[in-house]
Amino acid sequence: MKNKYGFCLFENAISKKEIAKIKKSSSKFSEAKTLKEDGLTKEDVDLSFRDSSVSFSNDAWIYTLLFPFIEEANENSGWKYEIDSCEPVQIAKYGKDQHYSWHQDGASDHNVVDEKVRKLSLIATISNGYEGGELEFKQIENDGVNVMKPRMSLGSVIIFPSYQWHRSTPVTKGTKQSLAMWCLGPPFR
Ligand SMILES: [Fe+2]
Repeated sequence: MKNKYGFCLFENAISKKEIAKIKKSSSKFSEAKTLKEDGLTKEDVDLSFRDSSVSFSNDAWIYTLLFPFIEEANENSGWKYEIDSCEPVQIAKYGKDQHYSWHQDGASDHNVVDEKVRKLSLIATISNGYEGGELEFKQIENDGVNVMKPRMSLGSVIIFPSYQWHRSTPVTKGTKQSLAMWCLGPPFR
């Protein structure tokens, strides 16, 4: 599937003060651990597929901060998806050589048990001073694949349909931290 707007980018969306608050509240997050230690699916424990540390939060103020961007992107990009809830916010940490290969966050179809699917994904950049770790999207265009590289910097927020293929390239220097939020709704009809 290809849509006119593969993603919606907001630069300088979150202030340094808000980023500091997010990081400060991360002490309340469940302890970050690598997916290797989690009892997740085989795909998730394959470090050649994904290699990072994660923690989660249900702090309401983070949703209050980010949801206006979801609403604006959903409306202005013409997606107008039915959204009714969000999963816990995830903060991912990528050290040197860590990455997340090409994947979709959700297919948004009816192959679910609880009738809730990921419709829109949000990623915010909450660190700087690292190299590599670039967010990339790919779409099929005519006979080729078009890879898009939005310029994410500290405080950037990007929103995209959860079925979009995307990846985080390996970090080559420093540590990258990003926040992810997935918004749910009924499957596409
Ligand atoms: Fe993702």
